[in-house]
Amino acid sequence: MITLFKRDEELIELAIEAMKNAYVPYSGFRVGAVVLTKSGELFTGCNVENSSYGLTICAERVAIFKAVAAGEREIEKLVVVADTPEPVSPCGACRQVMSEFGDFQVILANLKGTFKVTKVSELLPHAFKLQR
Ligand code: THU
Repeated sequence: MITLFKRDEELIELAIEAMKNAYVPYSGFRVGAVVLTKSGELFTGCNVENSSYGLTICAERVAIFKAVAAGEREIEKLVVVADTPEPVSPCGACRQVMSEFGDFQVILANLKGTFKVTKVSELLPHAFKLQR
């Protein structure tokens, strides 16, 4: 059995807080995310929907893009949380975006305290990499 470090539990709490800011007038499905960078910085994210549905951005990408926009390039771990029966599983687009920034640990969680510890290469084996 895998147990979480206290720090991980705090990251999940932070992701739950971030989830509260989700802008979800269409799906009602709130997602929260937290990126911990290798330099120790934290970046939160929530999903932001749009009336043109395809423009919606997931919580994971918001958190990753905030980190990158702040100059960070190395991610230590990502936490994702939603109010789901099983730990929420990131969409394919987010998995590809994660793979751009390394093979870091990903903690998937829900509000019931169920969690899954995985990593980018497990979520997206054979990720696309630009080759020339
Ligand atoms: N969503 C995320 O934020 N992350 C995911 O990995 C999957 C889906 C959001 C997008 C949309 O606002 C809502 O969940 C329903 O698809």
